[in-house]
Amino acid sequence: MTDAAIRVTGLRKLYQGRPAVDGVDLEVHRGEVFSLLGPNGAGKSTTVEILEGFRRRDGGDVRVLGTDPAHADAAWKARIGIVLQRVDDLAQSSELTVREWVGSMAAYFPDPRPPDEAIEMVGLTGKRDARASSLSGGQRRRLDVALGIVGRPELLFLDEPTTGFDPEARRQFWGLIQGLAEAGTTILLTTHYLDEAEHLADRVAVISAGRIVEVGPPATLGGRAHAAATVRWLDRDGPRAVTTDVPTQVVRELAARFDGEVPELVVERPSLEDVYLRMIGSPA
Ligand SMILES: Nc1ncnc2c1ncn2[C@@H]1O[C@H](COP(=O)(O)OP(=O)(O)OP(=O)(O)O)[C@@H](O)[C@H]1O
Ligand SMILES: [Mg+2]
Repeated sequence: MTDAAIRVTGLRKLYQGRPAVDGVDLEVHRGEVFSLLGPNGAGKSTTVEILEGFRRRDGGDVRVLGTDPAHADAAWKARIGIVLQRVDDLAQSSELTVREWVGSMAAYFPDPRPPDEAIEMVGLTGKRDARASSLSGGQRRRLDVALGIVGRPELLFLDEPTTGFDPEARRQFWGLIQGLAEAGTTILLTTHYLDEAEHLADRVAVISAGRIVEVGPPATLGGRAHAAATVRWLDRDGPRAVTTDVPTQVVRELAARFDGEVPELVVERPSLEDVYLRMIGSPA
């Protein structure tokens, strides 16, 4: 099939003889926003960095844009964009400005965005002429994202891109990702923010101890869409909650009983966080 941007079967990676990635199968379609979720140490960065060609694997088959990243050439590298979880902080000791950093990265790509455009896309225009070493933590992370997108990648890897972002920067980043996705960019993103995954991802994979637990759209993961709902309201003698498969009927009965507005009425389904915590075996 030609619509897979990434295809992984049986991926294994050992560190000192112990598996960090233990038989992962994954398929990311072209144009898809796909998110890897999982606890610290689950194997997300290891997996992503193997796909980027940064780490060698010990087993399994990997195709990224049709090529094995372990044997990829410069032309392949020019088609992908990378935002690593941990960036070697060359910027910290450098005299270069934001614009110079982004401009020098752009030079590696055949059809880059104008550096100012990439800087604008991450909301750093006001810091364009500032030295990279003078940026705050969140600004520094935005620069990392600008460096990842300046080459107009077909496929963008983002490993915890929004760590350190303030809420406004996070929303702005979400808009940026949606814009890139609409323009056809395939995006593989890791995050610990489940609202971020829910907002951005077409599908998520939950990975725990080096294995995929489940893959699916955030709305239906873990049977969320069909799970029993909880109806909460404030009754005359205090707060009440009923878990039910027929919440509409419960609400109709309540509306009739209260003859109008039901105080503090809420209908809840399990959140992505609820099903995620259950999947990774946490006593939520
Ligand atoms: N270079 C390395 N040498 C030895 N062990 C490593 C190395 N890199 C990662 N590991 C181990 O492999 C496991 C997976 O690490 P990885 O960085 O892939 O996790 P992660 O899912 O990205 O976690 P986080 O959410 O904290 O970023 C961890 O137990 C980690 O300690
Ligand atoms: Mg990681």
